[in-house]
Amino acid sequence: MPAISVFGAQWGDEGKGKIIDRMSREADMVVRYQGGANAGHTVVVRGEKFVLHLVPSGVLHPGKINVIANGVAVDPLVLLQEIEGLRARGVDLGPHSLRLSGGAHVILDVHKRIDLLAERWRGEGRIGTTGRGIGPCYADKAARTGIRVADWLDLELFRTRLQASLAEKNALLERVHGEAPIRIEELMDRHAAARQALAPFVVDTGAEVRAAWRARKTILFEGAQGVMLDLDHGTYPYVTSSSTGTGGIASGVGFPPSWIDRSYGISKAYCTRVGEGPFPTEDDGADGERIREVGQEYGATTGRPRRCGWFDAVAVRYALELNGATGWMVTNLDVLSAFDEIKVATSYDVPARGLKQRSDYPGSVVTLDQVVPNYESHPGWHDDLTATRRYEDLPRRARDYVEWLERLVGFPVVLLSVGPERDQVIPRMAL
Ligand code: IMP
Repeated sequence: MPAISVFGAQWGDEGKGKIIDRMSREADMVVRYQGGANAGHTVVVRGEKFVLHLVPSGVLHPGKINVIANGVAVDPLVLLQEIEGLRARGVDLGPHSLRLSGGAHVILDVHKRIDLLAERWRGEGRIGTTGRGIGPCYADKAARTGIRVADWLDLELFRTRLQASLAEKNALLERVHGEAPIRIEELMDRHAAARQALAPFVVDTGAEVRAAWRARKTILFEGAQGVMLDLDHGTYPYVTSSSTGTGGIASGVGFPPSWIDRSYGISKAYCTRVGEGPFPTEDDGADGERIREVGQEYGATTGRPRRCGWFDAVAVRYALELNGATGWMVTNLDVLSAFDEIKVATSYDVPARGLKQRSDYPGSVVTLDQVVPNYESHPGWHDDLTATRRYEDLPRRARDYVEWLERLVGFPVVLLSVGPERDQVIPRMAL
């Protein structure tokens, strides 16, 4: 049975939560392998909205195993709050349905404080992070000063590692930023209840996921953020601090890459970005504003208005190729019903390099703010698509738009989404 990767093919917020929730019906296990509570995966079930930050998006289907693997940066206080919030809303959530890796790194208050202070320090060069402590936690992991969930569960080990970590962090807080230091006992006290509550969830998740694969279970790997925010392959330094695509699964779970059968990218029918950094097709005029209002483009985690613009075929083609996509899914197609004319960036010019009409992504040789996109237009359709469930029932122009994107990008569109509800999808090909 398959192991399937689902990843964001733009700058995050492509609607992955809804797609994973839907695909989970057929899955046994849903696995988060990177990122942390910077993610906000939204699932709408019969008008009721759930925003998931750390808990995998399979949780709204009973009987599934949801895994937070070692590559995730886990804020235990946020995780506990999320578990309790979901339970209060009737979601059956316990160690039988949720597993937490002992190898995942722990986000502490100090990481969140440093995240915010570093942003202030960067001034004009700020990244626009979510403030969830993601960068500082992964920095500690790479510097080998991080604290893993297994260390955090062992009171003495937690204290020892925290002492070592805070010696350096408090010097930074006090001497560089002129801020009050973090008191170790206070921090440990704040974590006492969470440690007790989360201990039963902690297992060797890599071993469990591999065992599930051997038992021929269906496993979904849920990417967070998007390829254009990938630490290595995105618009560095305006990226998140993890490997957001299929490549992140091997190390973020402990799952052999050769065991992954299929991989699907998700993109919107237009494009959005939150935070700073280059965004070639951004439209800061009336069209961008209209996309924002019709698509309700406000961050699920921070509430920030998203930057909006047209579909960028160069970037999506790159994202799909990089991840060896089997196919891709196009979300928010219904939002484009608001437009007479729909634009798509089909190539880039790079004036500084004398390059014209290039359809290959130049991100590792120039920064994306040096590219000028070339647009082509497609006539709008104006029909309401939100109740359409079959591809052949879409208006001709909407189908032409989808098939045009497919040709530009060079990968098959397997599914379309036409609204936030679980059932507002148009399957096009078998997954
Ligand atoms: P961080 O992940 O909080 O460090 O933020 C780094 C960059 O990634 C910022 O531009 C954030 O806005 C962006 N980012 C992080 N998580 C998400 C997400 O889930 N959706 C969209 N953008 C995100």
